[in-house]
Amino acid sequence: MAVMNGPIRKAVFPAAGLGTRFLPATKAQPKEMLVLVDKPIIQYGVEEAVQSGVDNIVIVTGRGKNAIEDHFDVAVELESYLEQRGQTVQLEAIRKITQLINVSYVRQGEPLGLGHAVLVTKNLIGNEPFAVILGDDVIDADPPALKQMIDVYERVQGPVLAVERVPEEDVSSYGVVAIDASESLGRGVYRITDLVEKPRREDAPSNLAIIGRYILTPDIFGALEATAKDGRGEIQLTDGLRRLLRDRPLYAYEIEGVRHDTGNKLGFLKAVVYFALRRPDLGEPFRRYLESLDLKVGVGH
Ligand code: G1P
Repeated sequence: MAVMNGPIRKAVFPAAGLGTRFLPATKAQPKEMLVLVDKPIIQYGVEEAVQSGVDNIVIVTGRGKNAIEDHFDVAVELESYLEQRGQTVQLEAIRKITQLINVSYVRQGEPLGLGHAVLVTKNLIGNEPFAVILGDDVIDADPPALKQMIDVYERVQGPVLAVERVPEEDVSSYGVVAIDASESLGRGVYRITDLVEKPRREDAPSNLAIIGRYILTPDIFGALEATAKDGRGEIQLTDGLRRLLRDRPLYAYEIEGVRHDTGNKLGFLKAVVYFALRRPDLGEPFRRYLESLDLKVGVGH
C-alpha cells in the first residue's frame, strides 16, 4: 500500500482554466495546447515529470479541453499513415510521449480556483505524496525542476513549494512566502513561516514568489476541504497550504534553471524565442534571422 511519505509517482496538471488572456487563439483550443516551436506547452511539463521519474499523469480538465486528451492518446490513423510513408522521425515524435505515461483525467466542472482543482484529484491520488505542475511555467533546467524538488522532498520529508525571487512590483501576481533564513537546510531550501496569495506590494512578506511546482502530501486535501473561498469565490491552494502550516512544516526551494511564464503574451513570446534558439535544427538560421532584424524600427513603421 502507498504510504504517506513514499515515492512521488503522480503529477497533477490543472488545465481547466479558460485561457482568456490568449483570446481569440483559445476560443476553440485549450491554452495548454498553444505551441512553443512545435510542442504544446503542456507537453513540456509532462516531459519534465517523466524525466523526473513520475509517469502517472493526472490532468484536471473542463469544457473544451478534448484536444488535450486527443494529444496524449494513441493516434492510430496518423501512425499508420506515417508508417506507410516511412516517416519514422515523425512517427517516433508522436509515439514517444504516449508510450511513456499513464494519463487519467478528472473534470473540475466549475472553475473554483487552483485549490479546488487539486481537491478534485483526491480520489485519484489517494494516500500518497504527489506533485502539482502548473503548465504555464515552463522551466528549462538540468536536472529537471521536478527532479530537483523530489530530491529536496526526500531530505526534508514534507511539502516543498518552488519559489523564485521576483521584482517587488510583481509580487501581487503570485503566492508569496515568508521564510526562516536563519535555519540552514541546504542550497536554496528554506522553512516557510507564512504564505499569502497575491498580496499587495506593501503587504508582501518577501519577494519570494511561488512558481508552478509543488510537492504535496495527502493531508493537503483535508486542509483544502477546511479552507474558505476567497473574495472571488475560489479556493486557493496557497490558502490551503497556509492552513496546513498550522500542523506541519512546509519548505520552499529555489529551483536552479530558467523559468518562462508562458501564461502571458510577452512571456510566451520570450519562451518561443528561447526554445527555438536552443534547437539544433533551427537555432542557427533563426539566430541569423533575429540578427538581421532592424530592432530600432518602432511600432507603426
Ligand atoms: C497560481 C497560484 C499562485 C502562484 C502562481 C504561479 O496563480 O495561485 O500562488 O504564485 O500560480 O504561477 P495563477 O497564476 O494561477 O493566478
